[in-house]
Amino acid sequence: MSELDLILIGPPGAGKGTQAANLVEDFGLPYIATGDILRAAVKDGTELGKKAKGYMDAGDLVPDDVIVGVVAERLEDDDTRDGFVLDGFPRTIPQAEALDRSLDEMGRRLTAVLCIDVPDDVLVKRISGRRICPDGHVYHVDFHPPKREDVCDTDGKPLEQRPDDAPDKVKRRLEVYHEQTAPLVDFYDDRGLLHRFDGTRSKDEVRDHIRATLSTLRLEETA
Ligand code: AP5
Repeated sequence: MSELDLILIGPPGAGKGTQAANLVEDFGLPYIATGDILRAAVKDGTELGKKAKGYMDAGDLVPDDVIVGVVAERLEDDDTRDGFVLDGFPRTIPQAEALDRSLDEMGRRLTAVLCIDVPDDVLVKRISGRRICPDGHVYHVDFHPPKREDVCDTDGKPLEQRPDDAPDKVKRRLEVYHEQTAPLVDFYDDRGLLHRFDGTRSKDEVRDHIRATLSTLRLEETA
């Protein structure tokens, strides 16, 4: 059976990171999140982090040439042999074209693009209530609260709010999504790769829907 090369797209707060964790659990795929890679680079003060910080703090995208090479290199790692879950990349048409070129060079093609749809007013509520632990476990003060307030259930670490989750940054991130990333929906739909999911449903319902879609794709492949 061929590999599962997956992309998750959707606006900020749609639940991409949440569903990516499920895909990792359900299919044993490596998770590649450009937001996480960039946040780690900022924290470590690397060259990449220095280039990215200002853009991220403002809620803008980092330039394509900063991120494209990082992803191309990561995809060459051995753990992507059976597939991957890409979250947060591509985010622009030039990034999508660069990804096509990288996969072409590796003799691979995307299996599916999973698009999670959520209206802006719901997103603002979700993002403002989001809390994360330093190891990336995600909570929400109302929809998915930790057992002890502000403490991660998994590793006991203190929970934090992301700096770009402040209301003015969220507004900018949504604008950027609609201007620069939403055109990817048609881009992948035209290629027959797009599958849409109603992200206003519960996390478990979205997970089940994604799982069913991928199982159908695999059945079609073996038919
Ligand atoms: P990134 O880290 O990718 O952020 P994002 O796309 O804005 O997405 P989020 O992480 O905010 O949301 P999510 O969809 O993962 O939602 P989550 O599962 O946490 O990027 C950050 C920045 O990095 C960018 O702004 C940019 O500057 C830069 N960057 C990254 N990639 C780049 C690229 N390729 N090019 C250029 N720049 C790049 O869920 C949100 C909340 O909702 C949680 O609290 C969760 O518990 C809750 N929730 C989830 N699902 C549900 C549900 N079904 N029902 C109720 N609540 C739910």
